[in-house]
Formats: sequence, structure tokens, C-alpha cells
Amino acid sequence: MLDANSYENCIPLLISKVKALEEAMFFEVPVGEEAKSIEVASQLWQALLDSGVDRNSLIVNLGGGCVSDIGGFVAAGYKRGIRYINVPTTLVGMVDAAIGGKTAVNLNGSKNQVGFFQMPDAVCVCTDFLDTLPDEEMMSGLFEMAKTMILSDADALTTMESVFVSDGISHEELTSLVVRCVKFKQDVVDADPRDKSIRRMLNFGHTFGHAIESFENEKGHSVSHGIAVGVGMACELYLSHKKLGMSEVPLKRYCSLLDSLVGMPKYTLRDTESILRFMKHDKKNRNDLILCTLIQEEGVPVIDVAIDENEVRDALLQIAKF
Ligand SMILES: NC(=O)c1ccc[n+]([C@@H]2O[C@H](COP(=O)([O-])OP(=O)(O)OC[C@H]3O[C@@H](n4cnc5c(N)ncnc54)[C@H](O)[C@@H]3O)[C@@H](O)[C@H]2O)c1
Ligand SMILES: [Zn+2]
Repeated sequence: MLDANSYENCIPLLISKVKALEEAMFFEVPVGEEAKSIEVASQLWQALLDSGVDRNSLIVNLGGGCVSDIGGFVAAGYKRGIRYINVPTTLVGMVDAAIGGKTAVNLNGSKNQVGFFQMPDAVCVCTDFLDTLPDEEMMSGLFEMAKTMILSDADALTTMESVFVSDGISHEELTSLVVRCVKFKQDVVDADPRDKSIRRMLNFGHTFGHAIESFENEKGHSVSHGIAVGVGMACELYLSHKKLGMSEVPLKRYCSLLDSLVGMPKYTLRDTESILRFMKHDKKNRNDLILCTLIQEEGVPVIDVAIDENEVRDALLQIAKF
């Protein structure tokens, strides 16, 4: 499975490394979120059936998170589940989406509402694929990496300041950070494959991030998922400071990093009400509580912290002051 961009930019490199794939059949999906629909899944199941794909076949998903999400979903459902491998070609795919066996399609514009847990047989990460990735997509991936680093590393901000901003990031530095992020996510998934406990730490930045993404999309502004999560992490670091006593230093350093990379958004009171509306529909909530992963200190996450509406408003309004 692939999309037009991974076909154009990544197939030559993949086939040069894995000659056996010269014989593979290609199934193309639409670019981006359009791929993640039950209609596309249904067309793919029919195409697999028409092509004689059987229970011994292997699906290779070559692309970003949208390709691995739909490709994994199709593999999980076809003949009650066939094997699949993810070959991520975006930074988001490499450090996050391709790992962990969460597959999903969207329903009526609502993201990831239907899906299966089905682990890939392998995830093959090659950072050479990133050479053709547009800057905006790279930035989106850098914030997903930042998330993993803040969760796992007591020196996360020092590393981020040196490689994301000051000197720029070399291919070698990027590859070594990707490897660290992949290992961390795989370890978390191995410890909690079904998202019952510690895997939920990976939602850091996402309670606010998803709501900010939906809010910006509703206004007709396109904001990448990673950048929305980047802003979400600023809000959740602010609440970590307020509610868990995290020092103000990482909050200030992170906000200044965010500002220099993408600019700090300034929300109005009216914006905060809209964002809050989206947040109340988040599928991470339970018993009507808004739940976040917060940070005791860099490298020490705390899952499922309940926050109230005023704390949401406060965080959205205050981050611009750091
Ligand atoms: N399953 C999970 O655990 C998980 C985790 C995080 C994100 N996701 C999902 O992943 C999706 C986002 O993934 P994404 O950011 O990779 O988006 P994406 O798959 O849409 O890829 C981004 C863009 O880059 C293009 N592209 C991909 N590789 C390229 C390359 N090497 N060169 C040039 N262009 C290339 C794509 O065609 C697309 O236009 C979302 O749907 C999100 O919900 C899933
Ligand atoms: Zn994310």
C-alpha cells in the first residue's frame, strides 16, 4: 500500500534495497486523511480479493501515518487478519504512527473512530526517505519527537535547543534521535499494548493538541497535527507547572523554542470557548472528565490527570506570556 507521494519519492529507494519487492503488487490510496475511510478500506479489500491475495500474503505499507493506519486496518480485517510490515516515510510515521499496532479509519470527519489493535510483523525505519519530505511535514515530526523526548529524557530541552534551533539538525543527529524515539515507543507499547495504562503517557500534548487542530481546521486554517501538538505541549507544561509543581524553567525554555520554530499563538477568550468545546468531545475523556498526561519534571510523566474548564482557559491564555 502506498500513496502518490510515497510512490514517486520512495519506491525507487525501497526497491533498490529490497529486490524481492520488484514482484510486488501496488495498491494506491488517496494522499492524506482521505485514505482513512471505510469506503477506501472496502475498495482495498475488494482489490485484494480480486488480485488473489490470501492468508499467506504480506502487506507492506510504504508511506506516512495515513498509509500505515489504513494499510494496517485493511490487513487487520482482511480474512480475519493477515501479516503486514510498516515502512514509514515521514518523521511522524517513523517515531510514532508506524509503531504500536494502532490502526484506524475516520468516521464522518471524526478522527480514528473505528480501528483495530493489530501489531505489524516488522517496522523498517530508514531516515533516507526523509530527504524529500516537505518542511512543514518535517516540523510536524520534530514536535512528535519533542513529545517523546520530554517524556523520556531529563535533558530533553537541552538536546532540543541544540539540534532543533541553534545549529540545525544533521542527518546523523536526526537518525540517532529517531532511533531513541522508536525504542522508547516500542518499550512503552510492549509494556502496555492495549493502551490500558502507561501507553497513555504518549497522549502528552494531545488533549490540547487535538482540540487546537480541530479548532484551526474549523476556521479554515491548515495546521499540521504535530504543530498543534507542539502548542498543546506548551499548555500541558503550563498545567504541569501549576498543578504538579514542575519548575517554571522547562516551561519557559519550551515556550521560547516553540516561538522560535513556529510562533506562539495568541488566543482570545472566544477562541478558548471553541477549543474547550472540541476538548469535551475527546475520546480520551472518561466520566466527563478532561484527562491529560502532565509532567512532574522532564522524563517523569503522570498519566490521566483530570483538569477543569477554567484550567483549560487559563492555560490557553497564559502560554503567550512565557
Ligand atoms: N496509529 C498510530 O499510532 C498513529 C500515531 C500518530 C499518528 N497517526 C496518524 O498518522 C497520520 C499522520 O501521519 P503523517 O504526518 O505521516 O501524515 P501523512 O501520511 O498524510 O503524510 C504527510 C504527507 O507527506 C507525504 N509524504 C510521505 N512520505 C513522503 C516522502 N518521503 N517524501 C515526500 N512526501 C512524502 C504524504 O503523501 C502526505 O502528503 C494521522 O492520520 C494520524 O492520526 C497514527
Ligand atoms: Zn500525535
